[in-house]
Amino acid sequence: MEIINLVELEALARARLPVSVFDYYASGADDEVTLRANRAAFERLAVHHRVLVDVSRRTTATTVLGHPVTSPILVAPTAFHGMACAEGELATARAASAAGTIMTLSSLSNTNVEEVAKASTTPLFFQLYVYRDRGATTALVRRVEAAGAKALVLTVDAPLLGRRERDVRNRFALPKGLFVRNMLAAGYGEVATEQPDSGLAAYFASLIDSSLSWTDIDWLRQLTRLPVVVKGIVRADDARRARDHGASAIVVSNHGGRQLDGSPATIDVLPRVADAVGDSVEIWLDGGVRRGTDVLKAIALGARAVLIGRPVLWGLALGGEQGARSVIDALQREFDVAMALSGCPSVAAITGDLIHP
Ligand code: FNR
Ligand code: LAC
Repeated sequence: MEIINLVELEALARARLPVSVFDYYASGADDEVTLRANRAAFERLAVHHRVLVDVSRRTTATTVLGHPVTSPILVAPTAFHGMACAEGELATARAASAAGTIMTLSSLSNTNVEEVAKASTTPLFFQLYVYRDRGATTALVRRVEAAGAKALVLTVDAPLLGRRERDVRNRFALPKGLFVRNMLAAGYGEVATEQPDSGLAAYFASLIDSSLSWTDIDWLRQLTRLPVVVKGIVRADDARRARDHGASAIVVSNHGGRQLDGSPATIDVLPRVADAVGDSVEIWLDGGVRRGTDVLKAIALGARAVLIGRPVLWGLALGGEQGARSVIDALQREFDVAMALSGCPSVAAITGDLIHP
């Protein structure tokens, strides 16, 4: 599968997917202002390239939480890969492994975590949604640990689901035969339509714990020895708090514009967050990362890694495992070119002066 760039994949995938699936993957909340802002903010930033740096030998390699990766481009947790291709999350896991990077498996996967872990040859991270049923949540964490996942990514920007009007209009529900696989045994496997709403919004409202607070980070850290990553931060004070509660990493994220519409573009708030926590915790960023130069900009402004969400889904829809692999490879290649053209032979050479000379 040939990919010219990640931006045009959405239109290609649209032609392949049922409307309700495409809309669920593509949409943002309300007016989708934040969805567009993520991209616009990247486009506004200029890179002040260095010249006459020997870039004949260079590497995109780095580490996240101590794990070596081919490049600082990771796979974001996104729900329901079974709607994009038959192999679902197994295809994604194989693609991320083949590309030498790390996948974050969503709590809301169509495949059991044990199977996804078996299909991975690189470390697997697991994204956690905390259910009101803490017993079932604890059981899930135990399964994730036993499967060998290397980090728990706790998503904190979704006490309930943002209102995606396309999903409301489509009465979004999981297609027949697909389940929230990890929670099937606990009785929370079905996402069905509840008129007149998005079935997933109803699922969240009834099952996900909207009382989550900072003390629950302590609860989770006592529950598990896995490193805890806090995903969904856009403020310096929250970043500091996450660090103080023992987070190993934070993800600067507005959930790809799917939660609070009007939340700031992630790349715009990254410098403030980086100022606040320095090197005391790893900073990852997602939201609208589509170009190698976007990756460069995020690293320059203080991120250790970025995650991509929708482009991987488009890759799965267009070509299954191979499609997802091609998407990651294409972005890695662009990032390598961006490094070469900005005078950066290594990730460590990507520093803030590229943006603020
Ligand atoms: C998501 N995201 C998400 N995040 C999370 O923590 N758990 C989840 O289950 C999901 N599910 C999900 C489904 C779909 C279809 C999308 C598009 C996104 C958010 C995701 O991890 C990430 O923050 C954004 O997708 C990043 O933005 P881009 O790369 O899609 O612009
Ligand atoms: C979403 C949830 C599942 O964004 O995180 O759809």
